[in-house]
This record gives sequence, C-alpha cells and structure tokens, in this order.
Amino acid sequence: MQECDKLEKMDEFFASRLHEYDNHMLSIEELPEAYRKLAQLIPTDTQTLLDLGCGTGLELEEIFKLHPHIAVTGIDLTSAMMDRLREKYPDKDITLFCANYLDHDFGKEHYDVAVSCETLHHLSLEEKIGLYTHLFQSLKPNGRYIECDYMVGTQEEEDGHFAENRRFRAEQNIPDGASYHYDTPLTVENQIKLFVQAGFSRVEKVWRKNDTAIIVAAKK
Ligand SMILES: C[S@@+](CC[C@H](N)C(=O)[O-])C[C@H]1O[C@@H](n2cnc3c(N)ncnc32)[C@H](O)[C@@H]1O
Repeated sequence: MQECDKLEKMDEFFASRLHEYDNHMLSIEELPEAYRKLAQLIPTDTQTLLDLGCGTGLELEEIFKLHPHIAVTGIDLTSAMMDRLREKYPDKDITLFCANYLDHDFGKEHYDVAVSCETLHHLSLEEKIGLYTHLFQSLKPNGRYIECDYMVGTQEEEDGHFAENRRFRAEQNIPDGASYHYDTPLTVENQIKLFVQAGFSRVEKVWRKNDTAIIVAAKK
C-alpha cells in the first residue's frame, strides 16, 4: 500500500511538490517512453487536443516535437503546475483552465483528440464514468481519447487501494466528491469496461510497461 499518514488536498499536494515534480516523474523508469509513445498515437492531422490534468506539461514536450502546430486546451486544478507549463511553451497555441475536469464543460464535438497522463488514477468509478461520458461528447465523430496512467495487475490490488482510500477519507471526515490525493488505480480490464460503458466503440490497450499502461478509446 501507499505510504501516507494523512490525505492532502489535491492541488496542495502537487503545489508543494512542484520544485521536484518534473525530475521525479522523469526518473520513473517507464515514463519517458510512455510520453513518447503517447505522442506517436496522436494522428498527424490532429488540430485540436484536450489535455486533462496537464500539470507542468511533461506529455506536451513530446507531443509538440511531433505536432508543433497543434492547438492545446489544458485543464488542471493546480495553478502553480500550469504556471510552470506556461513558462516552458511560450510560443505554442495553448489555452489553460484552472478547473476541476469533473465539472468543466468541454463542449460538443470540439476536439480531434483528448489525452490524460498520470492523473485519473485518483478518481472513483462513478467519477470516471461521468467524465468519460462527457469526453465522448466533446470529441469529433472520428475522435479518440488516449489515457496513459497507473494501472494495477489484479482486482485484489485495485480493491485494496479503494479500501485504504475509504478508510483514510472516513478518518479525516472528508466529504464525498472533495479532491484529495490518494492513488486508486484500476486494472486495464476494468478501465476498458468503463470506456465501453461511456460509448466508445473501439477500445484497445496498446502499450504497457511496469505499472503504466496506455489505452486508446476511439469514438467509432
Ligand atoms: C501526476 S500529475 C500529472 C501531470 C501531467 N499530466 C504529467 O503527466 O506530468 C496529476 C495532475 O492532475 C491534476 N488533477 C488531479 N485531479 C484533478 C481534477 N479533478 N481536475 C483537474 N486536474 C486535476 C493535478 O493538479 C496534477 O497537476
């Protein structure tokens, strides 16, 4: 189980670790390769991209190498993370919203591609299905959603993380729906079921190394 004494609010968790964030993420064995792979999965004719939980923009570094003129909309709860992102890519077409992606209106049939990297493994099943349904609506008819995230190997591990999260939240009297940092990754199989439930018609795990997997969910 994860080392944790007390759950921290999501934005405070990331803001207080910003100074070490990029180095920490890039030191995780599989992540540099995962970011490169994600960028390769974005079709070359993509014009509009939605990035959920864009943070400091680590995935955008690789995406801009292959798609330098892409228009990016990024959403993140932690303004300090997005300040760092803005400093890194001053000349790129980026629109940022400091918001919770669970409440944000993504619009209808607006994006060619949506991505998320290392951010949705904090959500409950109910939150995920609601979010994927909104994402499905926000994509153009040929659109695809690409999720690169921490996923576990067994149902037992998944259940263990959710049980610990419930215990911590009850101990700290955290209200339902409040965003606190704790990892509750799903198995790849359970992730795929949620995408199908949200309406995606072609769903495929395309890559996995260690605890990180990439799933592509195509609208049609
Ligand atoms: C581990 S970081 C990943 C950042 C970036 N995608 C990357 O791969 O480096 C998770 C990010 O998700 C953001 N986040 C978590 N929950 C969120 C929510 N409900 N709405 C918007 N952003 C959220 C956090 O603020 C943080 O910047």
